[in-house]
Amino acid sequence: MPADNPTGSLGNQLKHVCIIMDGNGRWAKKRFMPRFAGHKAGLNAVRKIVGSCIEQDIEVLTLFAFSSENWRRPEKEVSLLMELFATALIREVKKLDDNNVQLRIIGDMSDFSEKIQNLVEKAVAQCADNTGLILHIAANYGGRWDITQAARQIAQKVQQGEIGIDEVDENLVEDHLSLRTIVEPDLFIRTGGEKRISNFIIWQLAYCEFYFTDTLWPDFDKKIFEEAIQSFSSRQRRFGRTGDQLTSLN
Ligand code: IPE
Ligand code: IPE
Ligand code: MG
Repeated sequence: MPADNPTGSLGNQLKHVCIIMDGNGRWAKKRFMPRFAGHKAGLNAVRKIVGSCIEQDIEVLTLFAFSSENWRRPEKEVSLLMELFATALIREVKKLDDNNVQLRIIGDMSDFSEKIQNLVEKAVAQCADNTGLILHIAANYGGRWDITQAARQIAQKVQQGEIGIDEVDENLVEDHLSLRTIVEPDLFIRTGGEKRISNFIIWQLAYCEFYFTDTLWPDFDKKIFEEAIQSFSSRQRRFGRTGDQLTSLN
């Protein structure tokens, strides 16, 4: 039997929001603009959502910016996305720091250029002592990669005799994932109309509430965010229990 409340708190307190920011390319295409214009416009929407999360006292925001599968895109688009990532790391960090945001980048950094790796390190360090919103940017991130790297770390510890096989449980696996023991995501939002997870934080989505919208990411704003929060608030999170049990617990 699993531990009493293994996957999150009961009730609808919104602490962690995660978003697949999809639809940049289609947003640009609709305007007869190059796809890259959509990615640039997407960055404005990121600024807005970070501001909204700060205003609403949300503890953690996790944004999917570039998946491990996105390297399959045309070389030109990938290189423009890398440039945009580098520029954002340079230009946005001061504002994040001024807003007390703790910036963390999750994903396999080893595939990025040395320049980007250095910028990531610098940006994360600059925001390291902050105490406000935790902002995860998932870049070259894949949920399968994450679970695999956790398994590898654990196997190594077992091999070296640091931990015994009996100690390998869900908590230990979680501790080795990129998000670690940070509060689990409560609300998952995907813009752009697709109804799939696309290899995002698959472990953590086990008990998350899903909200899909056709809005393309660059058009995402406070109003749609509030609609998503409203929908989340109206749901009953049961974590395996019955509805009656929850009523008697309240
Ligand atoms: C999401 O928008 C951004 C990234 C994956 C980098 P897309 O670029 O996937 O936009 P669509 O889905 O093609 O419209
Ligand atoms: C998922 O979007 C990744 C990001 C938003 C960064 P994609 O547009 O790459 O997803 P698929 O390929 O349609 O599943
Ligand atoms: Mg897409």
